[in-house]
Amino acid sequence: MSGFDFNSRDSFGSRLGVIAAAAGSAVGLGNIWRFPYVLGENGGGAFLLVYLIIIFAIGIPVMMSELVIGRRAQRNPVGAFQLLAPKKPWFLVGLMGVVAAFMILAFYTAVAGWTLEYIYQTLIGGFKGKSSADLATMFDSFRSDSLRPALWFVIFMVATSGIVLGGVRKGIEKSTKIMMPMLFLIILVMCVKSLTLPGAGKGLTFLLQPDFSKITGNTILMALGQAFFSLSIGMGTLITYGSYIPKDNNLATTAVQVSMVDLMVAVLAGVAIFPAVFAFGISPSSGEALTFIVLPGIFQQMPGGMLFALMFFVLLAVAALTSTISVLEVIVAYFTEQLNLTRRKAVILATISMFILGISASLSWGLMSNVKIFGMNIFTLFNNTTANVLLPLGGLLIVVFLGWFFPSKNISDELSNGGTLKIRFYGIYRIVIRFIAPIAIALVFLNGLGLMKF
Ligand code: PFF
Repeated sequence: MSGFDFNSRDSFGSRLGVIAAAAGSAVGLGNIWRFPYVLGENGGGAFLLVYLIIIFAIGIPVMMSELVIGRRAQRNPVGAFQLLAPKKPWFLVGLMGVVAAFMILAFYTAVAGWTLEYIYQTLIGGFKGKSSADLATMFDSFRSDSLRPALWFVIFMVATSGIVLGGVRKGIEKSTKIMMPMLFLIILVMCVKSLTLPGAGKGLTFLLQPDFSKITGNTILMALGQAFFSLSIGMGTLITYGSYIPKDNNLATTAVQVSMVDLMVAVLAGVAIFPAVFAFGISPSSGEALTFIVLPGIFQQMPGGMLFALMFFVLLAVAALTSTISVLEVIVAYFTEQLNLTRRKAVILATISMFILGISASLSWGLMSNVKIFGMNIFTLFNNTTANVLLPLGGLLIVVFLGWFFPSKNISDELSNGGTLKIRFYGIYRIVIRFIAPIAIALVFLNGLGLMKF
């Protein structure tokens, strides 16, 4: 067993702090960069509809479950399963989360690095007068550069490590409270601009009108993966954050509020991006480049656009930072509590290992473009396997554990704060975690991986 002093664990200070930190983890590049391009590649409105159903039917219950496990155990994901299910292999679920954390941090921090490049480009006027085609070329040549993406990755990684070194309350909680509402406001302004561009209507139709013929097994798998990724669930991030949540916090309310904020930011990002996509004549399936081509285009059309661009990319970088710190915290909590390292040593060890993985991921279109695994470059491999495989699999095991292998009384006790809160939803929640969520995830997997066809 580890010699870590569990009485010295840090915690979040206030209700608002809990929401800000958890929403800070959930809201990030997943909403503004990943959601639009995955939706664009997978049928628009049809994808959005499936996505909504998944958030409510699976996402929120899984998030609640992670918070329950974390706060009950007061441990990192591996330690939590060891404590709640001693001598059973459930801790492997936590370990899988730690592996996913390494992979996500590698490619996600690389994208966060792209936002730094875009801050820099805004400052030197690099977008001025550029057409959409020019902006696409600009993005491609940046991404295939042999140095710059890696350089920005390293800078962002060091910033993440610096905050995590500061600990939970001082480092994580404080930085999220102010910036999140600001980001929200700027996206609103961008929505207005985008919606008033000539030809914007088509984009809105694409986003909101479901074409049911476009729903395939793959659409559903992509929506499932995106939902897990966006909510930061399935890998123990919210087990870890849950372990820092005070005992009087209403976990169900927290899960609902965080999920709603996350959903709203993703939909707003869609409303900001798709009208402009159609107004500028860009293909909605432009992949990872989409956001980085469309947004500079919108800013060029706005009075004072460069100032908006600067604020937006800075806030996007901050939103990414509040997510990367939550991922790194999973690794650091594991290192400190299970391997008994000091926080400092844990951060240094994690950061150095991340340099190897992350630099490789960030150079996936440059120096490392020849490295292909299962036909994917390193970035795409990490991006796809975490979102579409590891996170949903983790979520499946988490709900199966709580639903079938953990006393129901302990769950209701944790959700009701020892009987002080009314939990009228408990019956439905229990059916969801025992039957609906596991069966749905399993079916989506089997279908999406082509092992079974409906
Ligand atoms: N939810 C974050 C986003 O949407 O940007 C990404 C993320 C953070 C995924 C933390 C997973 C995680 F554990």
